[in-house]
Amino acid sequence: MQFKTIIEPFRIKSVEPIRSTSRAEREAALEVAGYNLFLLKAEDVLIDLLTDSGTGAMSSGQWAGMMLGDESYAGAKSFFRFETAVQQITHLKHVIPTHQGRAAERILFGSVLKPGEVVLNNTHFDTTRANVEYRHAEARDIPIREGRQPQLVHPFKGNIDLELLEKMLAEEGDRIPLVMITVTNNSGGGQPVSMANIRAASEICRRFGKPLFLDACRFAENAWFIKMREEGYADQTPLAIAQKMFSYVDGCTMSAKKDGMANIGGFLALNDDELAQKCKNALILSEGFPTYGGLAGYDMEAIAVGLHEALEEDYLRYRIRSVAYLGDILTQAGVPIVQPPGGHAIYIDALGMLPHIPQHEYPAWALSLILYLEGGVRSVEIGSVMFGHQPDGSEKPAAMELVRLAFPRRVYTQSHVDYLAEVILYVNEIKERIRGVRIVEAPETLRHFTARLEPVDVSLIV
Ligand code: F0G
Repeated sequence: MQFKTIIEPFRIKSVEPIRSTSRAEREAALEVAGYNLFLLKAEDVLIDLLTDSGTGAMSSGQWAGMMLGDESYAGAKSFFRFETAVQQITHLKHVIPTHQGRAAERILFGSVLKPGEVVLNNTHFDTTRANVEYRHAEARDIPIREGRQPQLVHPFKGNIDLELLEKMLAEEGDRIPLVMITVTNNSGGGQPVSMANIRAASEICRRFGKPLFLDACRFAENAWFIKMREEGYADQTPLAIAQKMFSYVDGCTMSAKKDGMANIGGFLALNDDELAQKCKNALILSEGFPTYGGLAGYDMEAIAVGLHEALEEDYLRYRIRSVAYLGDILTQAGVPIVQPPGGHAIYIDALGMLPHIPQHEYPAWALSLILYLEGGVRSVEIGSVMFGHQPDGSEKPAAMELVRLAFPRRVYTQSHVDYLAEVILYVNEIKERIRGVRIVEAPETLRHFTARLEPVDVSLIV
């Protein structure tokens, strides 16, 4: 008998209590936090879906690996185990550890980008964009058109627009030192990129003599979607699919806080000897010696084990299903979400849900506040607070107003998700009463992390 229930493929050895609060306590907490969920105390959150980054539960195998951590400054055994684990998957020649993904981005862009140049990407994530702009270069997003229509179903909405890629390389090639593809496309809804798209992008880049890099944070989830959705891959292992994805690129940046299953860490991996040397020199300046790059030996051990656990079929089946489970409930109830559900998160389409709130009153931000106020759930806005402020100081509404509910890996169970669904369905019932917010104070860059806001009306709900 083949049973159809997909279970959590683990049992729980260690638990961490979570704390309920009253609505009045949450209302007060929001005011103190300047209506910014990043400024809440985590202990005031019941279910924390702010991010899937560094928030996962490590396995007993990873904790055991950590005890083998070799803390030698140079040439530690842990580095070589880490390097081997990365190379088994990527076959990339140089593996440079960093304390997290954005450090890999900073070091890469610092080594290849000059002011006025352009990086093409299916969609840059916020820190990636900020690291490009910090070099006075342009971060240009070229997802396929379907990728910008939240409710349209397409198997690989994360794909890069190949026509635009070719056109831009032909017309502005001398200003474009590298091209990136983000798998899965986080800002675009956690949507996967097909193997065919990576292969075709690689061919185009090669023709123009440009290196192609993967932003590989969620490479294992992407590999699973290829296995499920792309012809010819159903019988291949996620590892074999991942290896093939990496075979088309010249390098990658990686946040091991996602599909590295670790609480901290990342790496830059690449084939070019000269560029690798330049990056290692930059690494020594800020992160550390090239055999630890800002990590403890035990961190590298946890990542070496985690990268391969992320590719286990039982794990990936459960992981993708648990996100789709919430997606199915919301879809059935008519809550507009990015379709189909992404790999690591559900994205509520706030423009679709709250058409009465104009974009300059930040509907997705307002919705994220209500989910906390009503249910103690923390999510993150991916909309005009995050992306609306332009480098020249002007304000331009984001392409989409999304609320992302990101699932930490191996942390919450099905009843947590059932509770979450109840909260969202309740908020959907009272949606007409939700009002927008305005920014009171904000820094010049990455404002969503520290900005302070307030309700435009007497309160968030009227
Ligand atoms: N690239 C992508 C696609 C990401 O999602 C992230 C992080 C990074 C790069 C940077 O990695 O955090 O290790 O420095 N995303 C987290 C998120 C923070 O919540 O989506 P990092």
